[in-house]
Amino acid sequence: MKLERHLPRPRELAQLMHFKRFETDGRARRLAKAHTIADLRAIAKRRTPKGAFDYADGAAEAELSLARARQAFRDIEFHPAILRDVSAMDTSVEIFGERSALPFGIAPTGFTRMMQSEGERAGACAAGAAGIPFSLSTVGTTSPEGVHEANPHGRNWFQLYMQKDRDKSMSLVQRAADSGFDTLLVTVDVPVAGARLRDNRNGFTIPPQLTPSTVLNAIPRPEWWINFLTTEPLTFASLSEWDGTIGELLNELFDPTITFEDLAWIRDQWPGKVAVKGIQTIADARKVADMGVDGIVLSNHGGRQLDRAPIPFHLLPAVRAELGDDFEIVLDTGIMSGADIVASLAMGANFTLIGRAYLYGLMAGGREGVDRTIEILTSETVRTMKLLGVSSIDELNPAHVTQLQRLTSIAREPGQVSQPQNTVKTNTVTQKRAAAASAAVSSHANPRRPKP
Ligand SMILES: Cc1cc2nc3c(=O)[nH]c(=O)nc-3n(C[C@H](O)[C@H](O)[C@H](O)COP(=O)(O)O)c2cc1C
Repeated sequence: MKLERHLPRPRELAQLMHFKRFETDGRARRLAKAHTIADLRAIAKRRTPKGAFDYADGAAEAELSLARARQAFRDIEFHPAILRDVSAMDTSVEIFGERSALPFGIAPTGFTRMMQSEGERAGACAAGAAGIPFSLSTVGTTSPEGVHEANPHGRNWFQLYMQKDRDKSMSLVQRAADSGFDTLLVTVDVPVAGARLRDNRNGFTIPPQLTPSTVLNAIPRPEWWINFLTTEPLTFASLSEWDGTIGELLNELFDPTITFEDLAWIRDQWPGKVAVKGIQTIADARKVADMGVDGIVLSNHGGRQLDRAPIPFHLLPAVRAELGDDFEIVLDTGIMSGADIVASLAMGANFTLIGRAYLYGLMAGGREGVDRTIEILTSETVRTMKLLGVSSIDELNPAHVTQLQRLTSIAREPGQVSQPQNTVKTNTVTQKRAAAASAAVSSHANPRRPKP
């Protein structure tokens, strides 16, 4: 077909020319280009020395636990309901006795000021502004008092690693209680530090050492080094100074003798809510629930401890079935998008925690970077919920999600030799189950569960 043509007219050209005002703030300009957590990760990688970036980004041994957890989220299939009025949206949830504006909070991470100098204060400020909880690690690089100062009106949670020096551990716990922290997360998956091989290969120590290769790596990352060299030196609330690898430090700190009796004792010392972080089997979930703790965090520590550990997201439905509707379950490990959060809630979690997603934002742009993480996850959460046809978290239920599973276990009947199977296959649910799920979604006949 022959098109009729004419020369471009200046008036028409002028209408097409819309130049955005140039953003003079480099950080804002950079963060505006990040539309996903993966985008923030890419910026973080460019701006952070290799040792510190790999410490945050890496996991244990061959990093299979982390890769599998992320894959499990990618393998979700959602079942949307159509023609629902989703003009109003409530993303708030109740967790450990108070409301959170969003269904996720910031997970405890150690040595955070080493990843970016604003560290825990940036995380706590951003969490406070968003109305979500912030968790401070025992091996955090800001004191409980400093975190309270950064987030005076919001919720702060304290994470406990029981150290060999129990008095020191408990005095830190006391300081957190005195600073108004409302929830204690007791981490139980660390009898020994996981093998973080990237750290070994990088020769990564605390504090980072200036070797020819770190100097070379520092040249394109001047801001990180200027911040590092001109701000308060790295100290830990739980330890005044250290000169060695992080693994050695953690092994020096962790108490490998801790048992369920100690957990019961710790629970009795804390005035607020207590949750046990690092539960990875149904039996342990049952055992700590029977002890009367307020909740559990189903987590394999972001794949940083036992490699080839169970995928928390896959474990979730069975643990929910075991513990019933009223027990509070928080889930972490592998969350990289709002869709992952929505799927976790639908499958029975009351709440989720983000570790690396927060750290990528922090390394990409300090406080504003953490704001960007929260903004991205919030818009993804809201969009996914609207597309599923729900307007509040309570409406999410297992019928909204199918977990497609790549690895299936080999059946082990008592007394039978198990037959090897081709395990790397996609084990999709049957058409029948999918049809039943969509029917339940469309009728909304399956309200999630009563509020505790
Ligand atoms: C750099 C880094 C440091 C961490 N430090 C701690 C810690 O001190 N205490 C703890 O209980 N968990 C720690 N975790 C685990 C997180 O609390 C959380 O379980 C994990 O990051 C969740 O997985 P995700 O990173 O895929 O979101 C750390 C995780 C990372 C990435």
